[in-house]
Amino acid sequence: MTLVYGCMGLGGDWSGTPATAADVDTAEQAVEAAIEIGISWFDQADIYRRGSSESVLGQVLQRSPGLRDRIKIQTKCGIRLGENGLDAYYDLSAAAIAERVDASLTRLGVDHVELLLLHRPDPLMEPDEVAAAYARLRDAGKVGALGVSNMSAAQMAFMQRSLDEPLVVNQLEMSLLKRDWVEAGVLVNHPESTAVGFPEGTVEYCRTHAVRLQAWGALAQGRYSGAPGAEPTPAAELVASMAEVKGTTREAIVLGWLMRHPAGIEPVIGSVNPGRIRACADAAEQARQMSNVEWYALWTAARGGPVP
Ligand SMILES: NC(=O)c1ccc[n+]([C@@H]2O[C@H](COP(=O)([O-])OP(=O)(O)OC[C@H]3O[C@@H](n4cnc5c(N)ncnc54)[C@H](OP(=O)(O)O)[C@@H]3O)[C@@H](O)[C@H]2O)c1
Repeated sequence: MTLVYGCMGLGGDWSGTPATAADVDTAEQAVEAAIEIGISWFDQADIYRRGSSESVLGQVLQRSPGLRDRIKIQTKCGIRLGENGLDAYYDLSAAAIAERVDASLTRLGVDHVELLLLHRPDPLMEPDEVAAAYARLRDAGKVGALGVSNMSAAQMAFMQRSLDEPLVVNQLEMSLLKRDWVEAGVLVNHPESTAVGFPEGTVEYCRTHAVRLQAWGALAQGRYSGAPGAEPTPAAELVASMAEVKGTTREAIVLGWLMRHPAGIEPVIGSVNPGRIRACADAAEQARQMSNVEWYALWTAARGGPVP
């Protein structure tokens, strides 16, 4: 079981202006805290902070010789922000994939990333074209493996049939707050299933094909662990009381709930606060200790009612 460090918060604001030395300091402290709690995977995307997130990670790597060999980097492509008169659109054309990966490598100051994720499904994508673009990057030694994000089982199968090697990751929003990934599995044949925005069978597809499931938004932005302004919900109260009884942090309970699921979910934690990152350290242990009754208690408290 493992945690992933999500770099979306690093690199200053989203204006596209270059990151400052203070932004690099912040990133360095966050990366150090992540490594200290045993994290080795770092999650990036070409669009995070309009490239600044990758740039500051590159500067952190420059400051620390040898660090590159101790971490694994995954980045994403497939979203365009503020280009061609549109706020945002998706682009998984071969040209975009090649161009975006090269730009990410330049910003990061590395010659390869361990993993490339297709950020979101592009309705115009052609799996054969994506597969060929990925194969060229792999054969050039620029990318070690391919995964997806925000894709359903059907979309993964559609992509997989064009690839000559397995997809290795699907990164989805999953948390105590965003529970559709688990709701979808139990609301089969139930009238409430129409309210679930998650394609049933995606978790099972990933388990069947040994695709790692990564959870973005896993901390639910602190909603259950004391973020200012967060509602005092029964779920937040239960998280707090469990943390107190077990002598751990609320973050560890929130993440432990995800990691207790047998799919081996890897939470991607997006905090830039070193203290909050360290507060996640105990998550895997809490998952190991969490009984099925405790797991259901957290789930039903968060869903606001009993299972169907
Ligand atoms: N694949 C995708 O489509 C996708 C989409 C979004 C994100 N991601 C990835 O997933 C990572 C995590 O996503 P996320 O940042 O949306 O979710 P998250 O990890 O659930 O939330 C992190 C945010 O919540 C704040 N937070 C957490 N606990 C808090 C507390 N107790 N009090 C105050 N603030 C608290 C953090 O602030 P502090 O920094 O101050 O701790 C940070 O801004 C990203 O970094 C990115 O790598 C992927």
